[in-house]
Amino acid sequence: MNPKSLLRWRFPLTGIPRTARGVTSAQSASTLRAWYARIAHVYDAVVPYVSEEARTEALSRLNVTNGEQVLDLGTGTGLALLSLAGGNSKGWTEGVDLSTEMLRRARRRMKRIPHARYGLRQADATSLPYPDDSFDVVCSSYLLDVLPPTDRHEALQEMKRVLRSGGRVGAVTLTHPERALERLWVGMARALPFLAGGARPVTLRPSLQDTGFIVTDGSTHCQAGLRSAVYLATLG
Ligand SMILES: C[S@@+](CC[C@H](N)C(=O)[O-])C[C@H]1O[C@@H](n2cnc3c(N)ncnc32)[C@H](O)[C@@H]1O
Repeated sequence: MNPKSLLRWRFPLTGIPRTARGVTSAQSASTLRAWYARIAHVYDAVVPYVSEEARTEALSRLNVTNGEQVLDLGTGTGLALLSLAGGNSKGWTEGVDLSTEMLRRARRRMKRIPHARYGLRQADATSLPYPDDSFDVVCSSYLLDVLPPTDRHEALQEMKRVLRSGGRVGAVTLTHPERALERLWVGMARALPFLAGGARPVTLRPSLQDTGFIVTDGSTHCQAGLRSAVYLATLG
């Protein structure tokens, strides 16, 4: 790590515009884009240690069949995309994210499986560049808890639009803490939202149901004191 990035890591608010420091519980797309540009270089060194279990559970429960059309929404550095595309050599796996810096890292990660059939695209989850009924599966880990409520609603509508009838959704979000240590993390995420990439606990089940999804299963997972929820849903 060079001295400049060390300084950014130790003093993460250095250089962040005042408006981007965040005092509210939900951030605009432009703020999120600025934040992820700044934290992309440390994302993989930190986030898997608090999120891998829930993400892996969602991927395993989604049980993608080789040959399916799969969308990973808010793909970030491609942690889920690698696994989704790795088992889908006869289908197509598409990763979408708002942040070019996060996508750059996803592109680098995907070089590990050079023959995979996948695409990476910069786009806003609230306005996806795909026709209706394009995908069999939509996976989204730790995106819907980052979006402001209006954008979350629009992203869910977009997930529904691009998913075929009978299609499956696997969504992972931070969820509400149950123990003291978990409350500490959430308090920190609220006090320093930039450090948490804007993520905060949400209850997704009612939003999924209001959008028209049938929630078929759900579980929570606590890893290193951070509690995540996994939701499996279908489009009837
Ligand atoms: C917490 S990260 C999750 C990344 C990855 N899915 C994972 O599980 O590690 C949230 C990601 O959502 C992206 N994001 C934020 N707002 C977005 C939007 N409106 N549309 C698409 N991606 C967005 C961010 O750039 C970031 O890469």
